[in-house]
Parts: sequence; structure tokens; C-alpha cells
Amino acid sequence: AEAPLLKGRRILVTSGPTHEPIDPVRYIANRSSGKQGHAIAAAARAAGAEVILVSGPAEVADPKGVKVIHAETAQQMLAAVEESLPVDAAVFAAAVADWRVADASDQKIKKTAGGAPTLTLVENPDILATIARHGTLRPRLVVGFAAETQEVVAHARDKRLRKGCDWIVANDVSPETGIMGGDVNTVHLVTAAGVEDWPSASKAEVARHLVARMAAELAGEAR
Ligand code: C5P
Repeated sequence: AEAPLLKGRRILVTSGPTHEPIDPVRYIANRSSGKQGHAIAAAARAAGAEVILVSGPAEVADPKGVKVIHAETAQQMLAAVEESLPVDAAVFAAAVADWRVADASDQKIKKTAGGAPTLTLVENPDILATIARHGTLRPRLVVGFAAETQEVVAHARDKRLRKGCDWIVANDVSPETGIMGGDVNTVHLVTAAGVEDWPSASKAEVARHLVARMAAELAGEAR
């Protein structure tokens, strides 16, 4: 049998949403099942890699054979990612909340007549951009995701440059596509060389395809 494609490689994947607390019982969240990110972690493991999955509170179970670090907030996710470096490649599939509540309350906020609370939001760190621009520990291959509802490829191209990553996996998450939370995905791979339109496939197949592309890229690089 052929040697596994990613044997000897260390691969990091982020997946799932983040939850940003308002108080001990309430939070702000992004919509993400974790299906695609977890499938990528599983596919990388199946290809022989050592895999670290940094997962937000996802709906899907932890994949087998993978080191899983659970994080709730964006700040915790960034810390877990930084602690996991160095890696050969990193895939940022998590749907990270862009903002957190500035002063989350230690106590449950009481509902008082005529006085809805005002939440002040502050920007969360961009985990993908932070790692893509990491001076010494930047992975050789940094892959981001772009979930868009319009002009999917154009926005993904901009995002690739703005975030400093190598590839963007772009998908159309308009409600009518059923991709959000569903099992099928239609993606476009945006690289420095151009755009590849991949056929619609299960999230598991998209994961295997991406992992194979990553293995080829890592194998082709001079070391
Ligand atoms: O800018 P946008 O959120 O659309 O970018 C999506 C990409 O950036 C995804 O790969 C996502 O995992 C990553 N991201 C991140 N940290 C953030 C926001 C997005 O890693 N705070």
C-alpha cells in the first residue's frame, strides 16, 4: 500500500462556532455546526497526519484519533491555536464571532421593567490573520474559509489578500443552498494561481479533496 499522504505532518484545524458570554447564562454566537471543519480534521487524520482540532462548541462529535482542544470564545480559541504551533499547515474552518461583549457580567442580568440592557461590543482577534502574519511560527500552508452570500469568489479573493493566507475555500451560504448545517458543500478554492470550482460534494468528500491538495502542496515545497 502507498504511504499515507500526510504521514509525518502536523496539521491544525479550527472548527465550530464561538460563544461570547453576555452573562453566565446568555451568549452571542455564530451559526456553525462544525461539520466541515471536523470532516477536515478526520480526513487529515485518515491521511496519516498528526491532527490538532481546536473546536468551539460544535454540534458534531469529536473525531477519533485527533487531539481536540475545546475552546468557547474567540480569545480562548486563539490561545489554543498559538499553543499548538508549530504546525505544517493550518485550516481555519471555525465561524468565529467577530465581536464579544465588552464587560460580560459575572451575575445573571436581571430583567427589570422598562430597562433593557445595552451591550457594548468589542472586536475579537482575527485568528486566521494573526497566524497568517505570524513572524516565526507561520505554518507553511495557511488555509482560510469564506462563507459568503453574494459575489462569493470576488470576496474570497479580497479576503485571501487581506488576511495574508495562502488559500481560501469559498462557499455560498445563502439560506436556499442548504449548506449551513447541511451535509453537502459547493466550494471554490482560491489560490495565488487562480480559482478552482469544485463540484458539489459531501462535506466528507470536500474534506478529502482539500487534504489531498494540501498534501500535494506540502510535498511540492522545497525544504
Ligand atoms: O472575515 P471572515 O470572518 O469572513 O473570514 C473567515 C475566515 O477567517 C475563516 O477562515 C475564519 O475561520 C477566520 N476567522 C478567524 N478569526 C476571526 C474571524 C474569522 O480565524 N475572528
